[in-house]
Amino acid sequence: MTTFHRAVPESDLPDGKMLGLEIAGRDVLLCRSRDGIHALDNLCTHGTARLSEGRLRGVRVICPLHGASFDCRSGAVLAPPARDPQTAYETRLADGWIEVGLPD
Ligand code: FES
Repeated sequence: MTTFHRAVPESDLPDGKMLGLEIAGRDVLLCRSRDGIHALDNLCTHGTARLSEGRLRGVRVICPLHGASFDCRSGAVLAPPARDPQTAYETRLADGWIEVGLPD
């Protein structure tokens, strides 16, 4: 089952920006691309880096440590050395807040 958790006000995440935060004990990355607001696990599947310390280029999240990149919409790997996708979470807007759906 999924529970939606209030994260940050929508205005805290401008277009083209990323934000790392802890939600219900998980390290979550929020991104806002031209396709909307997305949430992924913040810890890179390749190592211990936080993607929130990397860069967002369009829909591509680039890891700061070894340069792997992921699609911020799905978590899919776009470039190595990472092989495993990032877990992606649902997002929604409610009363001006971004909410993230996390598994119970
Ligand atoms: Fe992210 Fe290696 S830790 S690419």
